[in-house]
Amino acid sequence: RAPKILTFAGSIRTGSYSASLAALAAKELSLLECEPVLISLADYPMPIYDGDLEAEQGPPEAAKKLRDQMINADGVFISTPEYNAAVPPLLKNAIDWASRVKGEGDAFRKPVFCIGSTSPGGLGGYRASMMLRQVLALGLGALVLAEQVMVAGAAQAFAENGDLKDERAQERLRATLRTLIEQAALRAGLRA
Ligand code: FNR
Repeated sequence: RAPKILTFAGSIRTGSYSASLAALAAKELSLLECEPVLISLADYPMPIYDGDLEAEQGPPEAAKKLRDQMINADGVFISTPEYNAAVPPLLKNAIDWASRVKGEGDAFRKPVFCIGSTSPGGLGGYRASMMLRQVLALGLGALVLAEQVMVAGAAQAFAENGDLKDERAQERLRATLRTLIEQAALRAGLRA
């Protein structure tokens, strides 16, 4: 079988640049040898994590659903915006809740992760990407690819059809996604 690659963004804003990058990644993945799955955190509404809430009710259904999506995936591409040099709370909260769901296997240690980031500014969300790397790799023991995608000047970066206007950037995105598929397939034992 082809590796399953889950993709989502850390923003649910209409016209979100990070959601545009997630959609573009899913489109590019659909042209490669894999099974892409694009989701939106809008369909996974969760309250802000609170230990009392967890003690009373356990993790919300959306957290269980998100964890299921991750453990069923061989690779995960997460596209994050940057808020005050950090990962936005929507994304951190979803990760925090998902990390609290108990079940068979470890949803953060199974798939291979790849990070994307966007910003209308010049740094391309680099600082948020580093924080996301810390949360996933250091906090949760995830395997995160060294390769990552950063889109700076995001308000002008996307063409009408959703591609990156800069052809070299588009080609780098493709190359990174190829690496993700390759590493996901290797880790899942789909390829020798
Ligand atoms: C921002 N923004 C921002 N951008 C950036 O490159 N570095 C930063 O530190 C911040 N800080 C920040 C804080 C807060 C609270 C907000 C709301 C915004 C701007 C941000 O990149 C911009 O709003 C993006 O459009 C958000 O991502 P989406 O929704 O387009 O994916």
